[in-house]
Amino acid sequence: MTAVTARAHPNIALVKYWGKADTALNLPATGSLSMTLDVFPTTTTVTLAPDAAHDEVVLNGAVREGVVRDRVVRFLDIVREMAGSRTAAVVDSVNTVPSAAGLASSASGFAALAAAASRAYGLDLDRTALSRLARRGSGSAARSVIPGFAVWHAGSDEESFAEPLDAPDLAMVIAIVNSEEKAVSSRDAMKRTALTSPFYPAWVSSTTETLSAAVQASRDGDVERLGRITETNALRMHAVIQSCDPPVRYLSPVSVALFDLAESLRADGLPVYATADAGPNVVFLCRPKDADAVAAAARPLAETMIARPGPGVEVLA
Ligand code: ADP
Ligand code: DP6
Ligand code: CO
Repeated sequence: MTAVTARAHPNIALVKYWGKADTALNLPATGSLSMTLDVFPTTTTVTLAPDAAHDEVVLNGAVREGVVRDRVVRFLDIVREMAGSRTAAVVDSVNTVPSAAGLASSASGFAALAAAASRAYGLDLDRTALSRLARRGSGSAARSVIPGFAVWHAGSDEESFAEPLDAPDLAMVIAIVNSEEKAVSSRDAMKRTALTSPFYPAWVSSTTETLSAAVQASRDGDVERLGRITETNALRMHAVIQSCDPPVRYLSPVSVALFDLAESLRADGLPVYATADAGPNVVFLCRPKDADAVAAAARPLAETMIARPGPGVEVLA
């Protein structure tokens, strides 16, 4: 019986991916930049089941049907096509990050699944091929293949993968405002934004410019410039999300208070910058030596967790 286990960590984007150029191949409208975390791993085991008629998907100990299962089955179909196989599989995955709460469970989930499934079906993919494959499951998963800081390129199927980026020494302080599943998935909200927001073209063109500036700031080791770019890009993303019809608002009053906190800590001389993915949870970017002070300041508002750059996806057994 072939069983392969892999582990991947979520990543938080400093320059966000929000919009697709191609839904079938899951190609992004713009490139993006992220930090893979050293906390909240997802561990996924793929076991080939030659006698089974259908795939089985178990997430956090519960057998899943519907959209969660369908998404995994469609991903396995891509892997089977690459491997020339028709064998069913059992996928058993455990997230330690809250699922579907805007803390990148789809990133760690599909990066771990890409590594475990490709190996279980006998493929031997290099890091670039693995990043391209993970992208098919969830765009942000392309970046969780890579350790530490990563840039995921826009472009064709061949060109659209993530690779490492030099960056200054940074930490993230995660403020967990609400760990419940969000009402609208990233995928659906992204689609709605592209279809209905009058600001979407401006988001795409400005983010393309923002990414070049962020890559340069990162290579220069300029924490303050990278931080400002991060916070502005996050607020622009939430602005374009709020401008769709019907609107989606991921930020709650506590999220907004946490963005205010970053501003007031900066006024006190602490270089800290806020971001948030598609959910109410806020992530602060700061120097490692300042992380404890940032966490202490955020604690009255939310549960906190300090993260550092973490490993790329790993096959465990
Ligand atoms: P998040 O902000 O957590 O990334 P998304 O809306 O992008 O939220 O994606 C959540 C979806 O990702 C889940 O509903 C499920 O379909 C999928 N997912 C999450 N974790 C896993 C996992 N470990 N294995 C497979 N699919 C997963
Ligand atoms: C706000 O990668 O979850 O976290 O490709 O449809 O699975 P799909 O979307 P997903 O979107 C991530 C959105 C984001 C920003 C980011 O991670 O860059
Ligand atoms: Co996601």
